Amino acid sequence: MSGIRFEGVWKLFEGSAVVSDLNLDVRAGEFIVLVGPSGCGKTTSLRMLAGLERPSHGRIFIGDRDVTDVPTGERDISMVFQSYALYPNMNVYRNLAFGPRVRKEPRATLDARINEVAELLQIKHLLKRTPAALSGGQRQRVALGRALIREPQVFLMDEPLSNLDAALRVQMRAELIRLHQRLEKTTNVYVTHDQVEALTMGDRVAVLKDGVLLQVDSANDLYEHPSSVFVGEFIGSPKMNILEGTLSFSGDSCTVEVLGVRADVSERVAGRLREGVVSGPVLVGIRPHDLFPATGSTGESPAISATVDISEHTGAEVFATMETGPSRVVARLPRVPTPDRGERVDLAFRAGAVHLFDRDTQLSLLDRGTPSRRTSAPADISQQVR
Ligand SMILES: Nc1ncnc2c1ncn2[C@@H]1O[C@H](COP(=O)(O)OP(=O)(O)OP(=O)(O)O)[C@@H](O)[C@H]1O
Ligand SMILES: [Mg+2]
Repeated sequence: MSGIRFEGVWKLFEGSAVVSDLNLDVRAGEFIVLVGPSGCGKTTSLRMLAGLERPSHGRIFIGDRDVTDVPTGERDISMVFQSYALYPNMNVYRNLAFGPRVRKEPRATLDARINEVAELLQIKHLLKRTPAALSGGQRQRVALGRALIREPQVFLMDEPLSNLDAALRVQMRAELIRLHQRLEKTTNVYVTHDQVEALTMGDRVAVLKDGVLLQVDSANDLYEHPSSVFVGEFIGSPKMNILEGTLSFSGDSCTVEVLGVRADVSERVAGRLREGVVSGPVLVGIRPHDLFPATGSTGESPAISATVDISEHTGAEVFATMETGPSRVVARLPRVPTPDRGERVDLAFRAGAVHLFDRDTQLSLLDRGTPSRRTSAPADISQQVR
């Protein structure tokens, strides 16, 4: 079983860093997802791991082996990339069977493997067709199949489901998870810009922004303990409300003033405040799920008068953009009766669920989910970065 380690990895293109000081340990057999907005360096990180791109600085390990200078073919990896290439003049069967290691297998074993993978990916009926006669989604499944058939130590996937329709994507997501559970020894690195995909698939999720790794955690911990405003907003839908507020300590009590009300932050928040946090302005993060029509129950903030602007049905719930004083927030409203535009609603938030961030650094003021420590650039990098 092979884990993966990025050790102080940088990648510069034309003097600008697209991956900065990447330090990441992936456990053997783990399914890790790299997620982040377009251009944040996900594909570049994966290409370095695959050996298709050489780091400008730092080392990459697969298992105990330093593979930084090992050619792609000798890394025991399989990959499916954003732009997958199938052999155009071979049919699907031969595309699946084409690979240095696979070709050495006896015909009967190979047939059985191909059938198994084809069944899994629902491409059995396509085995005799050439890629030209396949839809985009079918081609993508063949590309996945070709990588799967080799049963590698490390399986790299770069947005492998991006060409599938919504239903098939959800189904394939589940198939890939099931497959991962079955092939316990394979370490998976999966790249997506879709946070829902990241949260549903990853044992752990690594969030990248502008080439910097911000946080690596389980889906639950990322959601509950975002280390920065960026992660708070990126993970979860609809996205977290970020509001100006004031934190006050007086005696034993700790309160936060936001949206025109002052709420006692419960022990759950106060007990986790980082050392050295003092009274003063903060950024308050409230998830739309934690902002709802007031019921007066304990643990709720005082009522906040708000007006419905736009409401959006998501099926099970309604999320509405509401105006309250100078702020606009998204809140969770009951589905029935559907709130009308202009309707007034008294909102409250769950005081124990607020997130607090530093106004300047935008980093969490609550202990948990420490961002990866950023060291200063090594000398050879500093000279190259413009
Ligand atoms: N060969 C290259 N030469 C110069 N710049 C490059 C090269 N490859 C990538 N980049 C730049 O590096 C940055 C990171 O690119 P990368 O493809 O890793 O992003 P990504 O996170 O995979 O984005 P997406 O979600 O759009 O696929 C981008 O700004 C991109 O323009
Ligand atoms: Mg990419």
